[in-house]
Amino acid sequence: MERGPRLEATYEAPPNIALVKYWGDRDRERAIPYNSSISVTLDRLRSRTTVRFEPDLSDDRVVLNGEGATGGPRDSVVRFLDRVREMAHVTDRAEVRSRNNFPTASGLASSASGFAALAGAATAALGMTLSGRELSRLARFGSGSASRSVFGGFVEWRAGVRPDGGDCDARSLYGPGHWPSLVDLVLIVKAAPVKAVRSADAMQATVATSPTYARRLAELPGRIRKIRAAIGARDARRLFPLVMEECDSFRDVCETTRPSLDYLTTTSRALLAEVRSINRDAGRPVAAYTHDAGAHLHIFTLARDAPKVRRRLSGLPGVERTMLLHPGPGGRLVG
Ligand code: DP6
Repeated sequence: MERGPRLEATYEAPPNIALVKYWGDRDRERAIPYNSSISVTLDRLRSRTTVRFEPDLSDDRVVLNGEGATGGPRDSVVRFLDRVREMAHVTDRAEVRSRNNFPTASGLASSASGFAALAGAATAALGMTLSGRELSRLARFGSGSASRSVFGGFVEWRAGVRPDGGDCDARSLYGPGHWPSLVDLVLIVKAAPVKAVRSADAMQATVATSPTYARRLAELPGRIRKIRAAIGARDARRLFPLVMEECDSFRDVCETTRPSLDYLTTTSRALLAEVRSINRDAGRPVAAYTHDAGAHLHIFTLARDAPKVRRRLSGLPGVERTMLLHPGPGGRLVG
């Protein structure tokens, strides 16, 4: 890590969708997860964040999508800035301006793109030159999934085994061009409830109370190996059932958490059933569903099947909007 003078920097970072979910920390202080996770970095969607450190400011100013942030969202940005200030041995307050080119409340992992962009902009503004690995290690303190948004394409965040987290880091498995025919059809559903509990807290409740969490952890190494291999071979027939199995496992540990975590709406559940029936009708896995801690669905399919799948799913009552995304590049400094 090198330092040099600078005051302001802008960084753009994409969201990602997890094929293998991060859900639960083995060490919260160090932000080390129980299990490794794998995601696809998405193209077109971006958080763009500018950070300017100003010696004259008496407090941090945080503007998210044009509005001054308060409460929880502001606090988590300030906490993150404190960490960066400590690394750089500075005390100056900062102005943070961040904008998403997609609706924040749409549940499209704005915290992943947001904290990856904040990490990139804040460190660059202080003249720090971090490697992708260092940036990712920092970003995960804002939001675990942000560790993966630094990189493009297919990304693995390895949990590692060392107690100090020395072997816990994210890296790109394959670049965005590895599998150009893979598409992510995003289905935005109406009346998606706003997340009541932050994922960081919700996942710890799962660890503490879900009777099926231990089984999930035991199954994951095998599933991860198979998912990695299916991505490597660009084999949709192998990948799609595994992606749905993983999503079902994630949903199961959420639903068996006490109190239960239910992220889906009636429309989301109808969409899961419809994807299963598309695959049954075709006699092969044409599509795979997944979702994060929210009601919107991501449907993986191949470009040649996408129009058909889109037609069948977008007509369901309660589907508000669809977007066709692809694996995309990771974060980058702007200007
Ligand atoms: C279900 O630590 O990224 O999306 O900051 O609330 O988004 P938020 O939580 P974060 O946990 C993400 C959990 C997940 C699965 C995943 O992306 O791996």
